[in-house]
Amino acid sequence: MSETLISVEGGCRLSGKIAASGSKNAVLPIIAAALLSSGTCKILDVPKLADVDVICQVLEGLGAVLSWQDKELHIKTTGLSSYEAPEELVSKMRASFLVMGPLLARMGKAKVSLPGGCAIGARPVALHIKGFEALGASVRTEQGYVLAETAGLKGARIYLDLPSVGATENLMMAATLAEGSTVLENAAEEPEIVDLANFINSMGGRIRGAGTKIIKIDGVTELGGCEHQVIPDRIEAGSYLVAAAITGGELVVDNVIPDHLKPVIAKMQEAGCLIREEESSLHILADGQLRAVDIKTLPYPGFPTDMQAQFMALMTRAQGASVITETIFENRFMHAEELRRMGANIRINGSSAVVEGPSTMQGAPVKATDLRAGMALILAALAAEGRTEISNINVIDRGYDDLVNKLSGVGANIWRSDQ
Ligand code: EPZ
Repeated sequence: MSETLISVEGGCRLSGKIAASGSKNAVLPIIAAALLSSGTCKILDVPKLADVDVICQVLEGLGAVLSWQDKELHIKTTGLSSYEAPEELVSKMRASFLVMGPLLARMGKAKVSLPGGCAIGARPVALHIKGFEALGASVRTEQGYVLAETAGLKGARIYLDLPSVGATENLMMAATLAEGSTVLENAAEEPEIVDLANFINSMGGRIRGAGTKIIKIDGVTELGGCEHQVIPDRIEAGSYLVAAAITGGELVVDNVIPDHLKPVIAKMQEAGCLIREEESSLHILADGQLRAVDIKTLPYPGFPTDMQAQFMALMTRAQGASVITETIFENRFMHAEELRRMGANIRINGSSAVVEGPSTMQGAPVKATDLRAGMALILAALAAEGRTEISNINVIDRGYDDLVNKLSGVGANIWRSDQ
């Protein structure tokens, strides 16, 4: 059976303008939240991603009517006919579990396949379930499915043991149609949560404090339709900053909210890159002389775990030793082995990796083990000598919209090929 690869001929200095698409991690919960609405939702700048296709299939399976006009998605959920999200879809994309809160709130019942673990970690959903129970639902797990029921959710005070992005989103959505008020404490503060709250409020929801550790939700009885523009993808934009730095290039990254990338910009400046912030773009100039810096991944506004792999690739080109500590996921260093195949000097010690640089990276056949690991291999390949062939690229297509065209548009020698 033939497989599609991404091939990269390294050594090109990138230059020009490249734009980020709408945010994957904002649009997935937003599409789920459309289930709360009794009207029609119009979502603008929806990225073309495999993960978006999956959540759209979940909604269609529930009876929603979806239609596209280029990157504009129209969702009508007046005639929902099911409350079940099947295993075959949820197993493809864990974030499908985010339909649980809206279904429970809207239909009083939800049956969603237990997402299970993935390449980067066990990814439990206990905090989601604990929160649904606090809102008055009865929840049980049966034959690999989570079943939840309620005669009507009631507002509650919920303290999250850790600031889980998914649990914050699922509970914020459930509480939107609950009777009375809910307070989420130790909530996650990611920009994608703020975008979700803005989407729900534009349908008539009453959410305050999104983006802080304490979110207050006053329940309403019904939500209408709305029109909403998704925020830009900060992780895609951050990946392009690294692309400029690792090739000693100069890029203007467009469609960015610079504030969302503060921890990434700070570390890249520490490594020796010049970055100028404009209103909705970032101008990066790099000369290829990079200093080693240490990073530690943390919940927002700390350094994002979704940029860790890309940064490890960058540090293979830096002068000195950098220590990369991963605190969010227990198994998010699989890219290190593939980078070593290309000539990197990386030692893993528990949740930390020590990268010694600069290494002269050589093109090689490598495998994308997960979404961000795949992007890290493309970045390393851009600066390597010779050709790199990356397999298992479906994981990359899950989260990067039109990546090959965008990178070749700024001078990368990159293409897809069937093998
Ligand atoms: C979201 O995942 C993102 N996905 C991830 O991006 C991102 O890495 C992650 O947040 C952290 O920023 C989407 O938004 C679709 P969490 P999520 O719940 O919600 C533990 C990418 O590359 N935890 O904040 O699943 C969990 O195991 C992806 O785009 C529990 O212990 O992340 C993890 O260690 C990858 N119990 C930590 O919390 C729970 O009930 C953070 O997970 C829930 C989570």
